[in-house]
Order: sequence, then C-alpha cells, then structure tokens
Amino acid sequence: MFRIPESIAKLGKERIKGFPVEGFVYGEGPQKPELMLIGEAPGEFELVDGIPFIGRAGKELMKSLATIGLTRENVYITSAVRSRPYRWGTKKERDGTTTERKYNRPPTQKEILAHAPVLDYELANLEPRLIVTLGNVGLQRLLGKEAKVTELHGQLLERPIQYLNELEDTTFNWTQETYRIVPTFHPASVFYRPSHRPSLDADWLEIGRILGEMG
Ligand code: URA
Repeated sequence: MFRIPESIAKLGKERIKGFPVEGFVYGEGPQKPELMLIGEAPGEFELVDGIPFIGRAGKELMKSLATIGLTRENVYITSAVRSRPYRWGTKKERDGTTTERKYNRPPTQKEILAHAPVLDYELANLEPRLIVTLGNVGLQRLLGKEAKVTELHGQLLERPIQYLNELEDTTFNWTQETYRIVPTFHPASVFYRPSHRPSLDADWLEIGRILGEMG
C-alpha cells in the first residue's frame, strides 16, 4: 500500500485552513496500481470512514471497475482535493420545519491549488500503468482548463501534466515527462445525466482494452 508521508498530509491540511471544507481523506491503493483514479473531492460518506469513493458515486465506480475485471484493491484512488468542500443549505423535514445542514459542493480553484502539493506528490511517487480522470475537475487539474471531458473522454492521451508552481503558488508548471491518461466522466454524472451512461460504459471498456494492449 502507498501512503503519502505525514509531512505532505500536514502541509495539505495547513494550506486548506480557512476554506469551507472539513476532514482529510487519504488516497488509497498499491504503489504500482493498474490504474490511478483522480476524482474531485471526498463527500459526506467518505469523511465518515476516511475511505475514498464509498458513497453512491463509489458504488457506481466499483461497478465500472468490475466490467474490466478490476476491484478497489487493484487501483489507487485519489482526487484533486482531499477535504470535503461543503456549503450550508436548508433541509425541509417531514413535519414542515426546516433545519440547516451541510451539502457537498465541487471544490474551488483556490482549494485545488491548496491541495496541489498532495496530488503532485502522489503523481510523482506512484507508478500507475495508466491514469483515469473522473470528471472535469480531475482532468483540468492535470491538463488545464481548456481540457473538456465531453471532448476527450475515452481517448488515450500522452501528455505533460500540471504541477504547482511553488514560487507563485497560484499557477501551474508543466512536467518534463509525459503521462498516459484516459479521461472519463465522474461516476456521479449518470445520476443527473443518465444519457451519459452509454459513453461512460464504453469508456470503461476502452480503458480495459488499453490496459490489455499495454501487456
Ligand atoms: N467523489 C470524488 O471525487 N471522490 C470521492 O471520494 C467521492 C466522491
């Protein structure tokens, strides 16, 4: 199993202080995984157990992995941000009263920059055969804002990726070496856009085919 050093976790926790986020969920998986999966940020359920992708989206992701003969144990799961971004909202109870509760939300660019050293460390120290980004947040963290999942999903890309420019701290540099990446949709996307289902399933079959071809 691979685990980031405590010094990197501590740095991530310090850099994200002051943002409306909570907790810190470590990435999880072997040092040389079949795939490195990069999502957005943990949600409510991930925080409870400290395990990435165990909520509703996680169940969907495990089904996709199973279609190509993989399980959670074969892959390294991480995300652009390791704390849960939340917003306060009102929830209507059955008796008509309303209560305040936290809802998940996507991470902001500042939060992504705050946790960039954590993902940079994972990218530099893991040896995945292939990286799969789940949704636009993970994809754009690696390939920049121009990259769009709707245009690139299911394609094998061999490109340099972004890492934090530590001097400026608000911009990214490009790596010298190239990485193999296949973008696909976030597993939760099929909940609000069921029409994505056939593309998502086809992307996963393509990821399996690429892994097979890589030997
Ligand atoms: N979405 C993510 O991107 N990561 C999780 O761990 C859960 C949901």
